[in-house]
Amino acid sequence: MYNIIDKISTIFKFVQVFSFITILASACQPVEEKKLIIGFSQCVSNDAWRQAMHEEMYRELSFYPNLELVIKDAKGESETQIEDIRDFQKMGVDLLIVSPNESEPITGIVEEVFRSGTPVIVIDRKIVSSQYSAYIGGDNYEIGQTVGQYIKTTYPEHIDILEIWGLRGSSPAIDRHQGLKRALEGTSFAFKYQLEGEWERDVAKQKFREFLSVNPDASFDLIFCHNDVMAISAGEVCQEFGIEHAIIIGIDALPGPRAGLQAVNDGILDATFFYPTGGDKAIEIAWRILSNESFDKENLLQTAAVDVSNVRIMKQQTDRIINQQANISRQNEMIASQIKVYQSQRGLLIVFGITLCIAIGSLIYVFKSLKDKQIINSELAAKNEEVLDQQQQIIAYAQKAELATQQKLEFFTNVSHEFRTPLTLIQGPVEDMLNSKNFPQFKNDLLLIRKNTYRLLRLVNQLMDFRKIDHGHMGAKVSEMALVPFIEEIMSVFEKTANNNQIRFKLLCEDLGIKLWFDPVMMDKVLFNLLSNSFKFTPSKGFIYIRVFQDILKYEVVIQVEDNGEGMDQEEILHVFDRFYQGNSGFRKVGTGLGLALAKELIEAQHGQINVRSRLGESTVFEVRLKMGNAHFGEEEFLSTDYRELVLDHHNYMSDALAKLEIEQTPVVGKMILIIEDDTDIREYLRRGLSVKYQVVEAQDVETAFSKASDLVPDLITCDLMIRNENGLDLISKLKNDPRTASIPIIVISAKSSQEDLLLGIKSGVEDYITKPFSMAVLMEKINTVMVNRLKIEQHFLHALPANEQVTNEHKAEKSDKKFVNTFNAVIEKHLSNPDFGVNDICKDMGLSRGQLYRKVKSALGYSVNDYINKIRLKKSKYLLGNRQFSIAEIAFQTGFKTAAYFSTVFKNTYGITPSEFRDKL
Ligand code: FRU
Repeated sequence: MYNIIDKISTIFKFVQVFSFITILASACQPVEEKKLIIGFSQCVSNDAWRQAMHEEMYRELSFYPNLELVIKDAKGESETQIEDIRDFQKMGVDLLIVSPNESEPITGIVEEVFRSGTPVIVIDRKIVSSQYSAYIGGDNYEIGQTVGQYIKTTYPEHIDILEIWGLRGSSPAIDRHQGLKRALEGTSFAFKYQLEGEWERDVAKQKFREFLSVNPDASFDLIFCHNDVMAISAGEVCQEFGIEHAIIIGIDALPGPRAGLQAVNDGILDATFFYPTGGDKAIEIAWRILSNESFDKENLLQTAAVDVSNVRIMKQQTDRIINQQANISRQNEMIASQIKVYQSQRGLLIVFGITLCIAIGSLIYVFKSLKDKQIINSELAAKNEEVLDQQQQIIAYAQKAELATQQKLEFFTNVSHEFRTPLTLIQGPVEDMLNSKNFPQFKNDLLLIRKNTYRLLRLVNQLMDFRKIDHGHMGAKVSEMALVPFIEEIMSVFEKTANNNQIRFKLLCEDLGIKLWFDPVMMDKVLFNLLSNSFKFTPSKGFIYIRVFQDILKYEVVIQVEDNGEGMDQEEILHVFDRFYQGNSGFRKVGTGLGLALAKELIEAQHGQINVRSRLGESTVFEVRLKMGNAHFGEEEFLSTDYRELVLDHHNYMSDALAKLEIEQTPVVGKMILIIEDDTDIREYLRRGLSVKYQVVEAQDVETAFSKASDLVPDLITCDLMIRNENGLDLISKLKNDPRTASIPIIVISAKSSQEDLLLGIKSGVEDYITKPFSMAVLMEKINTVMVNRLKIEQHFLHALPANEQVTNEHKAEKSDKKFVNTFNAVIEKHLSNPDFGVNDICKDMGLSRGQLYRKVKSALGYSVNDYINKIRLKKSKYLLGNRQFSIAEIAFQTGFKTAAYFSTVFKNTYGITPSEFRDKL
């Protein structure tokens, strides 16, 4: 839709701009046909007669709008006039009008123009050639004759004439003289004086003055001037010189003030002769020539005499003509302005019409566009639907594929989970057999079994890791660790293989003290996988180098694992980190495609990067980049301190070093262990292993487990975390919170191996944790350690009691008493730091009355309740004093003494020395 709106606005903008331009164009340039240019070379233009000629021309031009007149004034100079004509020639005028200054000098150039094809009209004055298109002018000879006739009929004979000439070389002057001369031939009229007036008022005046000055006695009756302006100036000179009788005759008979008609009317002149300019005629003939219409070559204009007898009527007529001409001019102006209005309106109309057309066109276009768009839209909608359908199908396929993958993974995971128990049952006895040294002949087979068991376990763990990653349960748990020892420890696993295959296996690192924040469990898996991969493809006598260095610029630590194995091609490099990807080459087809994919996920979980460079047949370098510092980890990604050791212990199960485990057994005999395990095989395996040293009782469900624990009060419990679909952690917390069972140490044995599970186990207060598969030797070691520690504490606690009582108690105690004492001790231990804790609290916790409690304590322990509590307080304080971990005030507080001073007093009263003296003696 926006497109269409854009289009419309663009179109309207275009229309606006176009209209504006058209209006401007029409306003500035009225619609015109091509103009025809007429060049008019005027000999002189500073007199009224010439001005009248121009006016007539312009008036006539108004009838021919496509004619344009350009006038050049030669100012009475023939040479200038020749140049002017040449200029017109260069301009390429369509027609030339010439009023020659002088006949002869101008003839040549006129002929030239004429011959070049440009029509030439000669006006007023003639040239001495007939090479022109047309001539227009008064018949000067006839005028001369008319003047002669007029003189003859008007004035008596014997009149002396003073003639003032126009320009000698100009045809009117010659013709007028000749005409007059002809008319006066045979009469007594005589041309007595002749002066050169050159058509000019001032020239005539000056010449006449000079003449009169030089000839003061000159006698003449009539002054004939070739034009009125010279005649009027002659009259002025006569006045100057006091000549009153002279008759003055001129030619032109122009209307207007100071012109011929007025001068006759005013008595300045006696007569004048009408000499038309022919301006209008010249334009008319020019038009005819340019329009290829017929015209006359010679156009002689009529003349008439004006004297006192007819001047009035002539003047009236000419005035009227002038008025009419003025009216015509005004009308012309009006017409011109109307034409302008019309033209601009016509322009506007055209613009409007065009705009309307464009607007209609645009609307049609817009509607068409809209319609097209609708069609396209509906097509698109149909396509969209199709695409959506396809998309839905793809999503459905993808979901199916995802489901299938998930189900596959789930299946693998479940299967893997199921594999762990049997693997334990394989691995455990194998470990035991390897440790027992009773089967030297099977050692190699056993090692092979163990190796492959580990291999299977790794695969199983990797599959389970993927599920955790996919379910988002695989968050990093980082701590700051020395990187090099960590790597060396992992390398040690591969030392043997390296030696066997004579592979140079080295760690190259300049800074052995590099510390880095990382998840040790994840990094263990990553490095293990990278090294496994390298060892898989590195031939014997090859090399595998681990380079560790800091990239200070990027603030990263780089771990490179390089081998000179078979290398990879581009295709393999591209997919090497894909899940379940198996390479093309024969070797690479071996493998599950899990290890490197997992390595990548684990590195990315630590916000690092892993990549590979490889050259087929040469070498491969896997490069891990981890950021320095810990700012890039979230709060939840940090590993808590107590958890760290456990995690680090955890990866030992992979180590070959396990086989060399020396089990240091402190004999703890006659102790009872409760095995809580629902898997019959594992339970059987545990029973067989543990019954060698301990009295073993078993439980395969939660209820039996709790009742056996509370009834029998075993010395230690091993507990699975999943017991018949019930959560073992719940059972553990129940056992830990019940006073009867609270003090029983618990070792968790579980197939769950995630860090979260470990952490939960630790939090629930269990003494230790072991994951399946496990080595019986390791379990025995852990049980032994827990038992010994427990024994030590108990001995500390009981150290205050007299030796005989200890023995008595140890031996006398019946089974039920032992159970009571255990519970009683657990309750005391629980409340020990509370100074106000007493009989009532114990009764409440143990569900006994005060009397029952007193009696039971006395019979089982031989002490009153409070004495026993005090002894336990002091015993624990002694133990803590020996530990040197806490100050005396802290120990007083932990063992339930209200102040340090009171604690010292009671301690001294009992042992004869103060707590600090006791500590010094230790
Ligand atoms: C004007 C004029 C007229 C005369 C004509 C002759 O310049 O002198 O007075 O009649 O020229 O060419």
